[in-house]
Amino acid sequence: MWSSSVVARNTAVLLTLSLLKLSKGSSVVKSGVSNYSFPDDFIFGVGTSAFQIEGGWNEGGKGESIWDTYLHKHPTFTYDHSNGDVAADSYHHYMEDIEMIKNLGVQAYRMSISWPRILPNGTDNNINQEGVKYYRTIFEELVKANITPVVTLFHWDMPTPFMDLGGWTNAKVIDYFEDYARVAFSLYGDLVKMWLTINEPKENCITSYGLDISAPALNLHGLGEYLCTHNSLLAHARVYRMYEKEFKPDQKGKLSIVLDASMGLPKDPNKPEDVEAAENYLQMHLGMFAHPIFSEEGDYPRIVREKVNNMSRLQGYSRSRLPYFTDEEITALRGSADFFALNHYITELMSPPTMEPNWKVPSINQDTGVKMETDPLWPMFGAEWQHVYPPGFRKLFNWLQNNYQILKKIPIIVTENGMTDFGGTKDYDRVDYYNDFLYQLLLAIHEDGCNVKGYFAWSLMDVLEWTAGYTYTFGLYSVDFNSPNRTRTPKLSAYNYANIVRTRRIGFDYIKRPEDLNTITSK
Ligand SMILES: *[C@@H]1O[C@H](CO)[C@@H](O)[C@H](O)[C@H]1NC(C)=O
Ligand SMILES: *[C@@H]1O[C@H](CO)[C@@H](O)[C@H](O)[C@H]1NC(C)=O
Ligand SMILES: *[C@@H]1O[C@H](CO)[C@@H](O)[C@H](O)[C@H]1NC(C)=O
Ligand SMILES: *[C@@H]1O[C@H](CO)[C@@H](O)[C@H](O)[C@H]1NC(C)=O
Repeated sequence: MWSSSVVARNTAVLLTLSLLKLSKGSSVVKSGVSNYSFPDDFIFGVGTSAFQIEGGWNEGGKGESIWDTYLHKHPTFTYDHSNGDVAADSYHHYMEDIEMIKNLGVQAYRMSISWPRILPNGTDNNINQEGVKYYRTIFEELVKANITPVVTLFHWDMPTPFMDLGGWTNAKVIDYFEDYARVAFSLYGDLVKMWLTINEPKENCITSYGLDISAPALNLHGLGEYLCTHNSLLAHARVYRMYEKEFKPDQKGKLSIVLDASMGLPKDPNKPEDVEAAENYLQMHLGMFAHPIFSEEGDYPRIVREKVNNMSRLQGYSRSRLPYFTDEEITALRGSADFFALNHYITELMSPPTMEPNWKVPSINQDTGVKMETDPLWPMFGAEWQHVYPPGFRKLFNWLQNNYQILKKIPIIVTENGMTDFGGTKDYDRVDYYNDFLYQLLLAIHEDGCNVKGYFAWSLMDVLEWTAGYTYTFGLYSVDFNSPNRTRTPKLSAYNYANIVRTRRIGFDYIKRPEDLNTITSK
């Protein structure tokens, strides 16, 4: 999930701000039941990831991931000085999780395999049978309950031995990722028919490699984010082609990569330079990943290539900081996805300064050369980066549909969308969030003809939110992180989501907000 803004660490301040905004921003815009319904073949699901929920960091033969290692070495890195040692303790409570998923009535569950839980050293010479059994049991239980497991291979928890070798900046890691993927397909391919290779390579490459705001905070700005991007894309293509050749004929599954995208809109739609800035932003932050896979011509978008090459030249580099693909690599990447897996949270407004004081030199920010702002009128209920603007969701579907013709043939599946707040089970704002975003999704399907076939709410339950620790929450179920049992309780948004899934329409009045706004949100 998205966290790349520099985030204020004072939760109290955020809380006050969000309560102030509440009166303005949270009014329910619609009433009654949506006139449009979700098509019969539309899949509803919920998502989690291994490091964010499992805990059991050193149990059952698991090796360490970089998030284990880094947070142990730097215990004050997260805002609340928490780590993932126990998290929601799904390592022990997974049967409760599956009951929760059943109660929501969804057709699918997106989760990830912790690479070092099944390969403690990262490499396939040492397969940890206890870890293998843990995931096998979960997949069996899900399939028994008629819930499709949708499984991410890499959700940021790189085995520590590979991180020590440079992680995704080391092209050799592509080989080891392929080996790991082959082990996973061999072990679980009879049960798992929907695979996701890498979660949010953009977010991972910028925040962990280009900047210092996610573990392991390498801060290799200008080079690190592009090496990571390049190798992540190649690793995805390698695994796609391997699955296609060695497993797909028998297992008949589908495979994609999860791309995260904020929508970029011109700050002033009447200014051509703002319109151009929005397009530049989208190409540099989404096109860089989507164009090699989903466009007809393949490779990085021309504008991305030119921008990074020009800036590199200006800065005296004799080679571009953005690596080149070979022709074979361009071909392997092109078409290497069976659906478009999209994570979306926010919209931002774009305008063109040449430089911002907080941009590092060199960096993808400087190469992009676009100022990103929020609209202060858009309400905010949790994380300071998350100003809520539902119409951006519909505009993003349309941008994708207009840019990639292949999306007439393969569908978009929203693999993450959800809202932060500061906890509590009476989450009226989250109820509105889901209603409003899903309504925009219905408009994109029914009025714009966008080919959207699935939606996964993020997240099933409150999770360890990476660098933000447990300071804000995302779940449909709350988790009591103070209880040794990590007790799970459904929030109002869970009942609301279950109603949408059951009726296949949005009931805008299904959960009624009490008159007194002061009694709601955050505890
Ligand atoms: C459904 O359609 C009716 C008639 O056009 C309209 O009055 C109503 O607002 C619509 N409801 C929603 C929730 O969009
Ligand atoms: C795997 O890593 C562990 C702990 O770092 C080490 O003790 C062990 O020897 C390694 N095993 C293999 C097969 O490399
Ligand atoms: C890159 O530089 C070339 C040559 O100066 C110029 O024609 C082109 O417009 C520049 N492209 C971008 C995206 O800045
Ligand atoms: C935790 O669960 C156990 C077993 O269900 C129960 O006996 C115990 O009271 C619970 N503890 C707390 C603090 O909720």
